[in-house]
Amino acid sequence: MARDPRYDVLFEPVKIGPVTARNRFYQVPHCSGMGYTRPQTLHRMREINAEGGWAVVCTEYCSIHPSASDDPYPQCTLWDEDDVRTLGDMVEKVHRHGALAGVELWYGGYSTGNTMTREVGLAPNSMPVWHGPVQTQAMDKSDIRTLRRWHRDAALRAKRAGFDIVYVYAAHGYLPAQFLSPVHNTRTDEYGGSFENRARLIRELLADTKDAVGGDCAVAFRFAVDNLDEQVGITCDGDGRALVQHLAEVPDLWDVNIANFSADARTSRFAKEAAQEQYVAFVKTITTKPVVGVGRFTSPDTMVGQIRRGILDMIGAARPSIADPFLPKKIEEGRLDDIRECIGCNMCIWSNGHVVPLACTQNPTRGEEWRRDWHPERVATRHADERVLVVGAGPAGLEAARTLGLRGYRVALAEAGLELGGRVIREARLPGLAEWARVRDYRLQQIGKMPNVEVFRDSRLGPEHILEFGFEHVCIATGASWRRDGRGRSSFAPITGWQRQGVVTVDEVMDDAAAIEGPVVVYDDDHFYMGGVIAEKLRGLGHDVLFVTTAGQVSPEAQRTLDQGRIQAQLQRLGIEVLVSHNVVAFDENGVTLAYVYGGPSVTRACATLVPVTSREPDEALYQTLMVNEDRLRKAGIRSVRRIGDCAAPGLIIAAIFAGHRYGRELGSNDSEAARDRVVLGARRKEAS
Ligand SMILES: Cc1cc2nc3c(=O)[nH]c(=O)nc-3n(C[C@H](O)[C@H](O)[C@H](O)COP(=O)(O)O)c2cc1C
Ligand code: SF4
Repeated sequence: MARDPRYDVLFEPVKIGPVTARNRFYQVPHCSGMGYTRPQTLHRMREINAEGGWAVVCTEYCSIHPSASDDPYPQCTLWDEDDVRTLGDMVEKVHRHGALAGVELWYGGYSTGNTMTREVGLAPNSMPVWHGPVQTQAMDKSDIRTLRRWHRDAALRAKRAGFDIVYVYAAHGYLPAQFLSPVHNTRTDEYGGSFENRARLIRELLADTKDAVGGDCAVAFRFAVDNLDEQVGITCDGDGRALVQHLAEVPDLWDVNIANFSADARTSRFAKEAAQEQYVAFVKTITTKPVVGVGRFTSPDTMVGQIRRGILDMIGAARPSIADPFLPKKIEEGRLDDIRECIGCNMCIWSNGHVVPLACTQNPTRGEEWRRDWHPERVATRHADERVLVVGAGPAGLEAARTLGLRGYRVALAEAGLELGGRVIREARLPGLAEWARVRDYRLQQIGKMPNVEVFRDSRLGPEHILEFGFEHVCIATGASWRRDGRGRSSFAPITGWQRQGVVTVDEVMDDAAAIEGPVVVYDDDHFYMGGVIAEKLRGLGHDVLFVTTAGQVSPEAQRTLDQGRIQAQLQRLGIEVLVSHNVVAFDENGVTLAYVYGGPSVTRACATLVPVTSREPDEALYQTLMVNEDRLRKAGIRSVRRIGDCAAPGLIIAAIFAGHRYGRELGSNDSEAARDRVVLGARRKEAS
C-alpha cells in the first residue's frame, strides 16, 4: 500500500549538524536492562529498530567513568577501548539499515553510590545519593577539570566507535542537571549561585564535546525543561527557558523533555499522548536547531500535528519504538492498522527495574530478538498443514491465535462469552486503564485479516466438544479468577468468615459493582496496580473506602512502573483512607479484624463489603479433565494439548501475551531454548597498565 501523502512530512530528511537523518523518526535514548552486560541482546534489539525505519537509534545512558556506575542496573559504558569495540558493533548494525547511531554520555552525580566499582561519586555538593547510605564528594575545581576530561575522552571514544550523534545529558536529574538546579547546587564558587554560574558546566561540556568531535558527529543536548513534580527549581517559564535562550544555537540538536524519569515516562493512567507539549513547545521559538521531543507518540496524525504546528522537528519515541519497532515503516507503507500501539503500562520500565532485558506487553519479541531469534514482523511457516483449537480469547489466546495464523495454521479461536479480550477488556474499563484495550484491538485487527483464523463467540467448550472436533493441537487459555477467600502471599490460610455475604471478588467488582454496599474495605496483598484501581472505582461509586495493604506503602510493585507515588497520591486525593502493614484476618457482622504485620493488638473497622485483592485461581478445569485420559486424546486425533497464560500460572498481561506468542512460535518446533548472553571463560583479560 502507498503512503498517505498527509504523512509525507514525516519522511523528510533532517540535517543535524554534520549528519543527516533520513526521516523524522527518532528513537531517543532508553535503557534496555542489557547495557554492557548483555551486548549481543542489546545490539540486535537496536538493529531491529533501525530496520523498522527509525532514522536515529540511540543507546541508553552510557557511563563515561567508573565513578558513575549504576550497577546492578545495566547501563552502557565508554570507559575504554574494549567499550569502543563493543559499542562499535551496535553502530555497525544500526548503520547497516541506513540509520544514524546516537550515544548518550552520562554521569550520575547524586544518583549513584557506585556499589559495584566502589569509586567515590562526584557531584556539586556532598549529599546523600538516591539509593543507599552513601554521600558524594563535592567537586572542587580540579574535579571539575577531571570530569570535563572524562567527558571529552568518552566523546572521542564514541567517535572512534563510529557514533554519528554524541549527547550531553542534562535530564532526569543527573549531574549536569544537578549543577543547573538552584536546589541541588548550593555552591558558592563560579559554578553555583547565579543562573550563569549554574549553567557554566553544561556550557563547558557542550563546548568540549563540540571541540572533540564536532566536525564529524552531531552534538545533541538532552535537557529537561521543567521538573513538573520535583522541587528542583527548573521550570519551562523560569530557568528551563533561560537555559534554552542561553545556549540556543550551541548544540546541533535539542532533545527536550521533562524530568524526573517518572514524570517523563508517565503511564497512560496519568498521561495521554503528547502530554509534554505544553512544557516543550517554546523551545522551537528560540532555537533554529532541530528539536526532538517525546510524548508516547503512536498516532501519525498527532506526529504530523507536532511538525506542522511547529512544536517539534523530529518525533522522539522510547515506548512507541519498543511496542512497535516497525512503526515508521508501517506509516511509510500505508499500513496504519498494523501498528502495535504502546498502551502506556510501563512494563518495559518494570523489566528494566528488575534488571532483566526489556520486555513489552504489546510486543512479545522485545528483548527476545537475539536470544530467541524472534523478529517482530516475521515468523516461521507452519511445520505441517495442521489445525489448532485455541480455547479462550483473553490475551494469551488472542496472541496464540494471531501468531499461529501468521504461521499459516488453520486456527479456531473459541470464546465462552460474547466479548473478546478476556481480562484485558475488563481491566481496561477500570479507572485510567482504557488504553489497555489496545492489546485486544491490535490482535483482533490482525486476526480479522486472516482467512485461516476463525473466531467463535459464545462458545463454551467442554471436553466432549474438543474430542469431537479432533483438531491436531489444542491450546487451553481459559484464564484465572480472583480468589474470594483472601489467600495470598501473606497468608496461605483463608480469611476467617470469607464465605459470608459481603465478600466480593475483584472479578465481581469489575463486572458489576452496582449492588455493592459501603463502607468498603479493599484488602491488597497483590501489591501492584489492581488494588488501587479497584479502590478508585468503588470510591467513584460514592462509597467510603478503606484501603488496607500488607505492604508498607500502596502498590509497592508500581515503583517499577514509576507510578507508585502517583497512585498513593491519587488515593489520598480521592479521599480513600489508607492503612499500611496490616492483614485482614477476619470478617464478621462487626466488620473486618485487622492485624499489624509486625505484631501487637488487632483492630476492628466497619465494613459492609470486603474485596480481597490477594491472588488468583487458575481456571484449569477444562485442561485437567482433558488430560485425565490421554488415550482418549490420541484416539480423537489430538497430538498435543497445552495450557498457557493465566490458566497455567496466573500472572501479568505481559506474561499472558508472551505465553501466547511463544506457543504460536514453538508449535511443531523442538527449539525452545533461549541463547544466553554471558561472559565465556577464556576471554582476554585486560592487561595491567
Ligand atoms: C525502558 C525505558 C528506559 C529509559 N531509559 C532512559 C535512558 O537511559 N536515558 C534517557 O535519557 N531516557 C531514558 N528513558 C526515557 C525516554 O527516553 C523518554 O524520554 C520517555 O520514555 C518518554 O518518551 P516516550 O513517551 O516516547 O516513552 C527511558 C524510557 C524507557 C521507557
Ligand atoms: S511495555 Fe507497555 S509502556 Fe512499555 S512499550 Fe510496551 S506497551 Fe508501551
